[in-house]
Amino acid sequence: MEKPIVVSGIRPTGYLHLGNYFGAVRNFIRMQNDYTCYFFIADIHSLTTHPTPTNLQAGVKQVLAEYLACGIDPEKSTIFIQSDVPEVTELYTLLNMNAYLGELERTTSFKDKARKNPDNVNAGLLTYPVLMAADIIIHKAQFVPVGKDQEQNLEMARKFAARFNRMYNNELFPIPRPFTFDGKDMIKVPGLDGSGKMGKSEGNAINLCEDPKSIRKKVMRAVTDLGPTEPNSKKAEPVENLFTLMKIVSAPETVAHFESLYNSCEIRYGDMKKQLAEDIISYTDPIRNKINDILADTDYLTKVARMGAERARESAAKTLSEVKSLIGIKSLF
Ligand code: ADP
Ligand code: TRP
Repeated sequence: MEKPIVVSGIRPTGYLHLGNYFGAVRNFIRMQNDYTCYFFIADIHSLTTHPTPTNLQAGVKQVLAEYLACGIDPEKSTIFIQSDVPEVTELYTLLNMNAYLGELERTTSFKDKARKNPDNVNAGLLTYPVLMAADIIIHKAQFVPVGKDQEQNLEMARKFAARFNRMYNNELFPIPRPFTFDGKDMIKVPGLDGSGKMGKSEGNAINLCEDPKSIRKKVMRAVTDLGPTEPNSKKAEPVENLFTLMKIVSAPETVAHFESLYNSCEIRYGDMKKQLAEDIISYTDPIRNKINDILADTDYLTKVARMGAERARESAAKTLSEVKSLIGIKSLF
């Protein structure tokens, strides 16, 4: 039986953090055996925020090394850099003709970004979901493993795929679905600043390549409260977040131990943070070492990128020629 097709990408705008790992990359790794996977580095998407050429190049290498260090196997999955597959941007141009200003302007991620950076409301930002749709449907993906924050972008991809099928009276594109393990919601990793999610732009992230000293410092600074005064009381958000992080990286007995101290009002957040920091360090230490080894091996990175680009282009070129033929784009020579 053919394996279902999966596509997902991450922008190379910094280091991968625990949110990226538990929200996305860990699922990529779990899917490699049972799905035909395309995992890529969305360098063109990252241009909406105008990185310097040096930062862009360094970011691409970093994320590639991080993907590999986390366990994405280039033999099992197709791992590639978005800009190495020009068919994607060609499909993006074609899809743009059927993407409407109104619907693009209504996307929450566009509105958020426009509000946060009113001086840089560029057309790439507006059509971000169209490029993302092209990434996904060019490989005829059925599933897209991403965190909760990407739900709306994925909804747009579904819309554009269905619209193309309808307009050209065809079933070329499967309608891609968000991927969730065991039907459970995608995980949301909280930040250490008391509320919301861990994120690069939130400035509250612990990176996979973070050194132990810096992990300890960040965790010890995490926001908490004065502590419970009534047994079994409800936790305030910052404390709940600390427990959520602990559930992600620590052994169940460790979580149970601190739950019970919390419930009996004996908890000392300092102790809990120390334990949490050590558990994060044990989790990330092997990954961090691997990242550094892989980054030092430029030949290997080049080889992986070339192999991924070849495979991704093969799949993308096939879909693009089907799209053009349906649209009626036919060369005269
Ligand atoms: P960031 O929010 O740090 O800029 P990205 O937007 O580049 O991260 O996200 C890359 C992937 O990681 C996406 O699939 C996104 O849903 C996931 N992700 C990012 N932050 C979190 C988080 N805190 N919890 C769960 N998933 C996350
Ligand atoms: N928009 C995604 C993010 O910010 C990155 C992305 C680009 C993506 N193209 C994609 C994710 C295609 C999944 C599929 O995280």
